[in-house]
Amino acid sequence: MDYRAISAQGPALSQVNADALVVVLTPDLAHTGDAALDRLIDDAVKAQDFALKAGKTLYVHRPAGVKASRLVLSAAANAEPKAFKAAVAKGLAAVKDLGAAHTAVAAAQGLALTTAHAQALALAVADATYVFRHTKPSAPKAGALKKVSLLCAAAEQTAVKQGLAQGEALAHGVTLARELGNLPGNYCTPSHLAHEARQLAKTHKHIKVEVLERPALEKLKMGSFLSVTNGSAQPPKFIVLRYQGAAASHAPLVLVGKGITFDTGGISLKPGAGMDEMKYDMGGAASVLGTFRTIAELRPKVNLVGLIPTCENMPSGTATKPGDVVTSMSGQTIEVLNTDAEGRLILCDALTYAERFKPAAVVDIATLTGACVIALGHQHSGLFSTDDELAQALLGAGQQALDTAWRMPLDEEYGESLKSNFADLGNVGGREGGAITAAVFLSKFTQAYRWAHLDIAGSAWKSGAAKGGTGRPVGLLTQFILNQASAGAAAIQPLPAKPAKKVATKKVATKAVTQPAVKKVAAKSARRPAAGRA
Ligand code: BES
Ligand code: MN
Ligand code: ZN
Repeated sequence: MDYRAISAQGPALSQVNADALVVVLTPDLAHTGDAALDRLIDDAVKAQDFALKAGKTLYVHRPAGVKASRLVLSAAANAEPKAFKAAVAKGLAAVKDLGAAHTAVAAAQGLALTTAHAQALALAVADATYVFRHTKPSAPKAGALKKVSLLCAAAEQTAVKQGLAQGEALAHGVTLARELGNLPGNYCTPSHLAHEARQLAKTHKHIKVEVLERPALEKLKMGSFLSVTNGSAQPPKFIVLRYQGAAASHAPLVLVGKGITFDTGGISLKPGAGMDEMKYDMGGAASVLGTFRTIAELRPKVNLVGLIPTCENMPSGTATKPGDVVTSMSGQTIEVLNTDAEGRLILCDALTYAERFKPAAVVDIATLTGACVIALGHQHSGLFSTDDELAQALLGAGQQALDTAWRMPLDEEYGESLKSNFADLGNVGGREGGAITAAVFLSKFTQAYRWAHLDIAGSAWKSGAAKGGTGRPVGLLTQFILNQASAGAAAIQPLPAKPAKKVATKKVATKAVTQPAVKKVAAKSARRPAAGRA
């Protein structure tokens, strides 16, 4: 798609050279400053053919006195980027299947266009024109639309241009994440995700990729991750992506994405109805790949690491059984009480692996719990963190990018239910507060750095008639990274190193196998520094 910022306002709007013109109006800003358009708007409102109410549109063919042969009036709730995006989406829906190759979008007189408006427009265009064709070549091709212009004031042009460029790069990342999410489990295997990562490194010279195979994972003692792959015929992969945009000495941000390419539940088998939706269980991994694509295009001055543990969760004669105890890379043992709580089992080893990068912060992204969907629906991603600064940075980025998260609690007390008589940790608590106990489980592996967890079980895909991946939270993650890159000295800094305490944690875990009574006391003191940070 070709995105343009064109300086055109007031009387110039009806003279714009485009195949279609979409005009966004609000209840308070109902005119354009162009006589022909304003006459038409007043007429339509008077005739009750159009209302200035969010969601309403009116299509006019060959409008009198307007050069574009197709006109859409589209009403927004207000002038904010979120409402503007919704109105542009509605307007595009009215013209996207028509013959228009070039659509121009104009905002009402008085609606000040910002970078955020332009970025929102680019994302709305990408959304409107996305078609999944990979396993459905018969799907109607994307329409004739090739070029979208945002008409703005001369003074707005710089901001609009920047927003369009950023929005276009973002749309590429979002579309990649969406496409990977939609790809069925028999296509999107762990090997396929590794292939996609290598493709990224091929097309973007600032991305480096390394894929760790089973022998390397065994050597690293990733016993928890590997236990999830036991029932699958597909080999597991551990993908390490690196983007270097700043000096090598600069502490990186680390993104960790859950890459379960299909989640049957394993021996704790899921019910049949709706199980196909578990092809989206690699949504976290997809969002990491999508974010890398966008970041490689925008080239901010940061260092970024992406970690993707990826495998299938399958039942079989060799699969992990409920009650099996596995040893994670951290040394902590885990009783696998439910093989369907597999996301945390692959993430915990990736989180331990993340320590070696001495990160400024680590954010994991996972379609982790059905409980998060019950709590927040499909609206917000669930955000869990004991680090207020990091949590605020992520929440703010989500609002800026119109890809929001909602902060959830993470009190130590929720961890009570993770106690096990046979291991340092059980992998499930009860049904109650399931999204929180899952996050508390992960927190046991993140003591060495600032950490946040995004549960995207609800936000990464939609069910029902519009069933499909959303490409979220690529927008939130990208905005967070861009903000960190431009924050300079105010950027999030790594926690001061505490080598002595790290050794203590390891000792506790080893001891625990033989001396559970000693463990309890020691484990508490080992956890104290983290609680103090909260
Ligand atoms: N991948 C699922 C979580 C999920 C559920 C994502 C629904 C999207 C929609 C995860 O691996 C899982 O099965 N979680 C269990 C945890 C339970 C066994 C403690 C769940 O949420 O039921
Ligand atoms: Mn599961
Ligand atoms: Zn899962």
